[in-house]
Amino acid sequence: GRTWTDVGELCAEMKGETVLIRGAAQAIRPTSKKIVFLVVRQSMSTVQCILVVTKDVISPQMVRFATSLTKESIVDVEGVISVPDKPITGATQQVEIQVRKLYCISRAAPNLPINIEDASRSETEFKKAEESGEQLVRVGQDTRLNNRVLDLRTPANQAIFRVKSVGVNKGRQFLLSKNFVEIFTPKVIAGSSEGGAEVFKLQYKGKPACLAQSPQLHKQMAICGGFDRVFEVGPVFRAENSYTHRHLCEFVGLDVEMEIKEHYYEVCDIVEELFVEIFNHLNDNCSKELEVIKRQYPFQPIKYLPKRLTYDEGVRMLKEAGVEIEPMGDLSTEAEKKLGKLVSDKYNTDFFILTKFPLGIRPFYTMPCHDNSEYSNSFDVFLRGEEIISGAQRIHDPDMLTKRIEQCGIDAKTISTYMDSFGYATRPHGGFGAGLERIVMLFCGLNNIRKCSLFPRDPQRLTP
Ligand code: 4AD
Repeated sequence: GRTWTDVGELCAEMKGETVLIRGAAQAIRPTSKKIVFLVVRQSMSTVQCILVVTKDVISPQMVRFATSLTKESIVDVEGVISVPDKPITGATQQVEIQVRKLYCISRAAPNLPINIEDASRSETEFKKAEESGEQLVRVGQDTRLNNRVLDLRTPANQAIFRVKSVGVNKGRQFLLSKNFVEIFTPKVIAGSSEGGAEVFKLQYKGKPACLAQSPQLHKQMAICGGFDRVFEVGPVFRAENSYTHRHLCEFVGLDVEMEIKEHYYEVCDIVEELFVEIFNHLNDNCSKELEVIKRQYPFQPIKYLPKRLTYDEGVRMLKEAGVEIEPMGDLSTEAEKKLGKLVSDKYNTDFFILTKFPLGIRPFYTMPCHDNSEYSNSFDVFLRGEEIISGAQRIHDPDMLTKRIEQCGIDAKTISTYMDSFGYATRPHGGFGAGLERIVMLFCGLNNIRKCSLFPRDPQRLTP
């Protein structure tokens, strides 16, 4: 086969070399009947390619052919690398290709609903262009998501999904190194796993069933089944009614469940170690991706020295700042944000764990504190003032579990096999669930979770 070069690898040291690339013709700019510039894009990188009519190499027909290409068509370009004197502004690579051969491999339809060049601009670039009278088309979120296959082609979007992939793989590697076993639990289950109404109901061969709101019940049953430490990366379904910047109806959960020897802080230790490793790894290995994201969506990197506070301490800090919380109540999104700001100012970190929540606002399976059953052995983890993880020690005593299920008004019939599991004796255990899209959104300082889901599912969106 021939030797192919990635657009991202093209550099000045290759001056004079003949290269062969494949990419999308993002822009086609004829300057005359004899010269045409093509910007060719591969993933996060672009390069300027020039066809100039020259005897025996580029015919006028070739230039006409290049000019008639439709934007986003896939082309193979063979040519010689040259290095212009001035910096190149319209492409990422600081070299040009003097084209010798050009083939169209797949032709895009004309007049696409999204122009990738415009869709890749930052707000600042838009403002500047508008001031200088340039005609750019603003691309709204719905247009982007309706045409996600095109929208995904922007360099920032390419970078977001690389960050997600690198991050989840680092997490997997870390957990495997700590003796966790990766498991795969069923997604069609008999009863709601978190309690509550946010569940997609369906029929399973004539029996009522639902899509798992989390792997909660089965990851605990894996512990009952003799595994000390398990984790899962998989889809989580929530029939959310709220249309917000941080809720999806389907997201990817990273779930962990583990034996607890002495204290549920052992689970918090794993959370901190795991995420510090992931964040370090992303900063060390995805610097190009993070730069590309920043170019379109500017953000400050997170500070992630882990900090732990109790719920009561958090509420006290809020109170001192004039924010009242309903006694023993949940934190609103605004209160979370405010607390994030207070913790950031006081402890210089965007990453903290709030522990010991009131029992009344936690799911039925949560272990009450042994010395005060108003509280629970539970925690939430925050990044930039938004919840990214929740976790807890679980009840492993069957009688206590039965009582809690009654108190919480849960239909015991649908989860009877789960309840039975604890009658066979099991180790004290706990774990947590993290939402990957939310973590990527907050790590990259993005304003909407939909940006971090390949094909997002929200209360108003089932396609594409
Ligand atoms: O807080 P949640 O509902 O907790 C559980 O599912 C428990 N079973 C976890 C455990 O092991 N105790 O969800 C966990 C995380 C949240 O912190 C959030 O990051 C994410 O999942 N999440 C969502 N992400 C996107 N869209 C939604 N609708 C989400 N709901 C929760």
